[in-house]
Amino acid sequence: MKRLLVTGGAGFIGANFCHYWSAAHADDRIVVLDALTYAGNVTSIAQLIESGRVRFVRGDIGERDRVAALLREEHIDTIVNFAAESHVDRSIEDPQCFLRTNVMGTHALLEAARTTWTQPVAASSRFHHVSTDEVYGSLLPTDPAFTENTPYSPNSPYAASKAAADHIVRAYVHTYGLPCTISNCSNNYGPYQFPEKLLPLCIVNILEGRPLPIYGDGLQVRDWLHVSDHCRAIDRILSASPVGETWNIGGGSSEPNLMVVESVCRLVDEAFAGRRELAARFPRSAPALGKPSRSLICHVRDRPGHDRRYAINDGKIARLGFVTQTTLDAGLAATVRWYLDNEAWWRAVSSGEYQAWYARQYAQ
Ligand code: NAD
Ligand code: DAU
Repeated sequence: MKRLLVTGGAGFIGANFCHYWSAAHADDRIVVLDALTYAGNVTSIAQLIESGRVRFVRGDIGERDRVAALLREEHIDTIVNFAAESHVDRSIEDPQCFLRTNVMGTHALLEAARTTWTQPVAASSRFHHVSTDEVYGSLLPTDPAFTENTPYSPNSPYAASKAAADHIVRAYVHTYGLPCTISNCSNNYGPYQFPEKLLPLCIVNILEGRPLPIYGDGLQVRDWLHVSDHCRAIDRILSASPVGETWNIGGGSSEPNLMVVESVCRLVDEAFAGRRELAARFPRSAPALGKPSRSLICHVRDRPGHDRRYAINDGKIARLGFVTQTTLDAGLAATVRWYLDNEAWWRAVSSGEYQAWYARQYAQ
């Protein structure tokens, strides 16, 4: 039986991970530590909290002594660190909180573990740090996909803060023998994703009849990973990875943004054609007004320093026995369905703060 601390467990991937872990490992104890920034939504794990499967603690990973006390009180043996500022565009507007949480916060969490898990650290203890493929920088069209040995070359303040954290985690393995692993994954999508990210933003905007803002020419390529596959990959790493290893996780679905957004438009239109009640529920949406959703696509000012292409070589994690199960077509269809059926969730999280961000970000 493991005793997990899931940091950032009220965010998109962390919440999906709690749902996944709770179902896959029913006997394990799960404690969520989350500061509930604008991107954290305790409603995403409310059922798990109410049923007693998850204990929720509101707090900051940067509070080293408080975190250390929690590790001792709960006898935590496994930390999965999802907590971060995660949105590239916000890091361009204001990098400081990215350095505070992603760099200093990760360091405080490592210190809490180092001072609590006294030497020799039990073989069952593990600190897994969740990182991103953005640390590798941007690929040219003909470059080979990122491997775990690709040199770091982060281009945004967000990516640089994640790269710095990865280096600190690595240093804690080599200097202090802390039993850490790192994963660097590609773009996740699926349920509970905050609407500031491309896919939920487009789904919600179609339903609200708002433009779909495509940065630049929209031909930037991302490798789309369904969040359920990501959660299974982390499980595999926790159970089979030696200490000190890093793992790339991709979705095997590299597509330009514009094509992915067009797929989302088609899926929403098909859903409206098959479910008559949707037009009444979303009267401002393009399909309710008799227009194809793709008519909302508009090209806007590009993101500064926008990385052109990411791609993951997943050969290493395949050797751990991990394969993705969700194709992009199936994953997008399930995601569109989830947002259609969970209107209360996305309306509740689209708070005043989000509206203010949206107005600043998309003012032309
Ligand atoms: P998210 O923004 O949806 O959630 C982040 C969560 O962390 C939120 O619940 C927030 O309240 C919490 N948090 C922020 N600062 C905190 C702090 N100081 N202390 C405690 N909690 C804090 O992010 P996400 O998309 O779920 O990403 C999770 C992790 O995965 C991040 O580390 C991110 O860098 C990484 N990642 C995400 C993707 C992706 O496509 N979403 C891809 C690769 C890597
Ligand atoms: O690659 C992994 C990364 O994926 C994670 O580390 C980040 O935490 C996560 O946010 C994501 O970063 P991206 O910048 O790729 O995600 P985002 O959804 O913001 O953008 C996806 C692509 O879509 C990117 O090329 C920018 C583009 N885009 C985004 C938005 C929000 C648009 O064209 N228009 C938009 O309005």
